[in-house]
Amino acid sequence: MAFSLSSRARLTRHDLGRFSNSTLFDRLARAICEVGCLPRKELYEAWEMAKRVRRHVRGGRVVDIAGGHGLLAHALLLLDDTSPAAVVVDRVVPPSAATLHTALIAAWPRLAGRLRFESMDLDDVALGAGDLVVSCHACGALTDRVIERAAAAGASLAVLPCCHDLSSCDTGDLSGWADGALAIDMTRAIRLKAQEYQIWTMKIPEEITAKNRLLIGNRVSLD
Ligand SMILES: C[S@@+](CC[C@H](N)C(=O)[O-])C[C@H]1O[C@@H](n2cnc3c(N)ncnc32)[C@H](O)[C@@H]1O
Repeated sequence: MAFSLSSRARLTRHDLGRFSNSTLFDRLARAICEVGCLPRKELYEAWEMAKRVRRHVRGGRVVDIAGGHGLLAHALLLLDDTSPAAVVVDRVVPPSAATLHTALIAAWPRLAGRLRFESMDLDDVALGAGDLVVSCHACGALTDRVIERAAAAGASLAVLPCCHDLSSCDTGDLSGWADGALAIDMTRAIRLKAQEYQIWTMKIPEEITAKNRLLIGNRVSLD
């Protein structure tokens, strides 16, 4: 059977042989296989998002909102050591977070002491202009709150939206031309650009997820 990148099956030690190279991705995948607590799809989503974000935004404290297990935050630090620290914010931090964190610290001791998990609502985390705020699959209007909070702080940001909700998200009156979910994401991008942000719009591979539109923004310096 083909190895589907969108599978929700957990990566386990049985999959180790699929990741036998010395690349950072394969080393990360092997560490995840060893602990057996993460769906395959989530490895690929976090990695493909982190890679693209780091092409445009370097450094900054990483704030991974609705971060769940926090793999995205770990990957962003691994890809750019100039980020001093990361905080993973989620209303409910899942048990897989601690398991994954321990395994990744064992594989990359330089991460020790640089990541923390906060069980809180996204509205309660303090953000600053030096932060890189990221969110992978914050459902529906949650993505809008992430963007609003990041933009209010002047932080860099990257979101991979999902669960587009036509009743609570703004289609910008564009849904006569584009499907509702696309209209919502275009409206998010246009609004961010109007707030003195340089934006990048791109996709992660569709074989991983159909909710694959990635919006990245960097506050344009006004001085
Ligand atoms: C679809 S999951 C995404 C998790 C992770 N980013 C990923 O890609 O696997 C959405 C997450 O949002 C969190 N969440 C929902 N509402 C929230 C809120 N108001 N503040 C912080 N986290 C929230 C949930 O607990 C859940 O972990």
